Amino acid sequence: MADNDSLSVEEILATCRRLDGGEAGAASPPQPAASEPAEEAPAPSAPVEKAPAKPASPAAGKPTGEMSVADILAAARAEKSGEGAKPPAESPAAAEAPTATKTAAPAKKPGEMSVAEIMAAARGQKPAAAPAEKSSPKPAPAAKPAAKEAPKKPAAGPQKGVTVDTQSILAAARKSDKRGPISKEELKAKAVVAEKPAKPVKPKITPPPMPEKPVYARRPEPAPATTAQQDRRTFFSSSVAVFFGSFLAIGFTTLTLTNLLWLLGLARFMFPNILTEPPTKFKIGFPDDYAPGQVETKYTPQFGVWIVRYQYEGQPQIYALKSVCTHLGCTPNWLDAEQKFKCPCHGSGFYKDGINFEGPAPRPLERYAIQRADDGQLEVDKSQTFQEELGQWANPASFVPA
Ligand code: FES
Repeated sequence: MADNDSLSVEEILATCRRLDGGEAGAASPPQPAASEPAEEAPAPSAPVEKAPAKPASPAAGKPTGEMSVADILAAARAEKSGEGAKPPAESPAAAEAPTATKTAAPAKKPGEMSVAEIMAAARGQKPAAAPAEKSSPKPAPAAKPAAKEAPKKPAAGPQKGVTVDTQSILAAARKSDKRGPISKEELKAKAVVAEKPAKPVKPKITPPPMPEKPVYARRPEPAPATTAQQDRRTFFSSSVAVFFGSFLAIGFTTLTLTNLLWLLGLARFMFPNILTEPPTKFKIGFPDDYAPGQVETKYTPQFGVWIVRYQYEGQPQIYALKSVCTHLGCTPNWLDAEQKFKCPCHGSGFYKDGINFEGPAPRPLERYAIQRADDGQLEVDKSQTFQEELGQWANPASFVPA
């Protein structure tokens, strides 16, 4: 069973016809002319049989011409709600209803009525046409124009409680579109329907080939270059390439060398400045390695010392003379033929034992400390010097007895 609020168009029309039929039966007395067609009329339709339920509706006392759409819908809902239970007693209007509805019901079936006729029936205009159709053999031409003109009248007539246009109500009732939200499939179906047809594909137009130029319009082809011209072009191109190429090569080579120098300077900067001096103590071999009166010069370039095995004040000794002139610091030379040390700077001369005897040297040469090591070798210590004018040569650390 349908919901009480959702009424179909058929139910609304049935209610309208019942209201119309009841009103006609109550207002107009039974006529003999109308009773004959009623006997000849076919069996009353279902809406006609439900006409006795009409008095239960609140709009029963109103004429149909004054009823609004809201009243009609209210009457239809009330009838629908009390559809199963029939009233216990039939009113006089209801008793006469079959004869009246017999005149209204056979007018048209609900499915055959147009919208204008439905609206006219809803506003009580149909009953006027229906009896005429029954009483006269040719009522149709007169009824149809009235029915067609009927939709125009309700717009001007008074309506009670109408908030929506009747046309829009009927249009919405017959509308096939679904109300409320729609699914994606329905939206796609609508989009496919609304989609524009594909544009026709235009055929490609192939332009005809260009005609060949006439002979007089053609440009003469350039003559091939001679060997001399080719050589000249090659020479110029190669000269330019060599010129610029050599400049580029020189520039890049200079840049590379400069970068290398900068890298070397940076590497030198990363290491600290240290003195690479020889050690102050060094061994010079065994005492027997030196012959009496020998002056050994092989340690002079590296250590600046002469190893002499000679005697001083009648005592044979092995001592180490410092190879520095006592004048201004030059390095004297040992002259084996003259058996003396000779300074090349100012001509100072020193004996084998280191005593100065010529030149500007003010004092004798100095001695380094010398001693025997644990292994029996002689070891010179340059950290300690001995001067003869100070009487230091008498120190046992300044010589090794031979
Ligand atoms: Fe040796 Fe002057 S430095 S004599």
